[in-house]
Amino acid sequence: METVVSGIRPTGNLHLGNYFGAVKSFLQMQNEYNCLFFIADWHSLTTHPHPENIRKSVRTILAEYLACGIDPEKATIYIQSDVREVAELYLYLNMNAGIGELMRTASFKEKARKQLHIGQESGENDTDEMQKEIFKEDNKHSVSAGLLTYPTLMAADIIIHKAVKVPVGKDQEQNMEMARRFARRFNATYGVDFFPEPASFSFGNKALKVPGLDGSGKMGKSEGNAIYLVDDEKTIRKKVMKAVTDSGPTVPNSTKPEPIANLFTMMEIVSSKETYDYFNEKYNNCEIRYGDMKKQLAEDINAFCAPIRERILDIAANEEYMAKVARAGAEKARQSAAKTLREVREIIGFRN
Ligand code: TYM
Repeated sequence: METVVSGIRPTGNLHLGNYFGAVKSFLQMQNEYNCLFFIADWHSLTTHPHPENIRKSVRTILAEYLACGIDPEKATIYIQSDVREVAELYLYLNMNAGIGELMRTASFKEKARKQLHIGQESGENDTDEMQKEIFKEDNKHSVSAGLLTYPTLMAADIIIHKAVKVPVGKDQEQNMEMARRFARRFNATYGVDFFPEPASFSFGNKALKVPGLDGSGKMGKSEGNAIYLVDDEKTIRKKVMKAVTDSGPTVPNSTKPEPIANLFTMMEIVSSKETYDYFNEKYNNCEIRYGDMKKQLAEDINAFCAPIRERILDIAANEEYMAKVARAGAEKARQSAAKTLREVREIIGFRN
């Protein structure tokens, strides 16, 4: 059976982007593959170096994984830091990872810029400017080596189980490209055909980007535009009613500007096809009333989130059950990781 791996950083609650970009695929895949789904607590240190309470954030994701329907009888659910073998593989992979290629990844540049407090540049070739900033005396420890090597840790997460499919949203495409590259490089360096190359996976074969409703871009925690699975009805309504719109089209069948297209994309994701078609037709006839559309969308999002929200509260109250799931998952994940690591050590020439 093919192996599937994916993870989510414990930096808050799960939002609709996480759900439709990743978790929804987890639920479908757990019935067909050997699945391992983890909580990437080491990764969260790259942007949250002083987590107030890392255990609490990990438990939040664990409860939400379970509430969404990831079944510990079908899939292995574990916490990244419970599997120390990952750190050892990360070390080996880092020996063959170039600082140059790591510095060029888009997510590094974006996060480094934030940590250096420099604005988003429009040009593609801003790596030079960023490097200059990083090397300034005052900035010499502003951007961590951990942030730089984020993609090697992610590659280690995946290939340590020899996974071939990785359900992730569109924003992870570059990290996945790096994971494939590091797997290939390991094989080439040691002249082996050991690690398979992992591919991103999403049902429908199209990586999904769940948009934010604030005009442009994706939904995300750091974007401040997230609708969380645990949000209550009132909060959801408030967030949706605030969505950016315009005065409406004046020419039939006109192209939708981004904020409007995003509203429709969200509706396509959570509402029924009939609902989507109804409002789409209204738009095309220039009869759209965004207030009605938003009301409907808020209702549909709430109908989707309400049962999950209830389960989250139930499961979160059951500490014992969660601890049991994490322990059992750690054991299974460690077994799988240790097997790979024994072979890796042999390939490189270390004793076991
Ligand atoms: P993270 O924690 O940022 O996000 C978790 C998952 O949610 C997806 N996602 C989205 N998908 C569609 N639209 C959105 N607006 C949206 N926002 C988030 C992400 O694509 C991701 O699938 N680097 C990873 C964590 C990670 C990982 C791994 C993933 C660490 N090791 C190994 C897979 C395999 C991350 O930061 O995800």
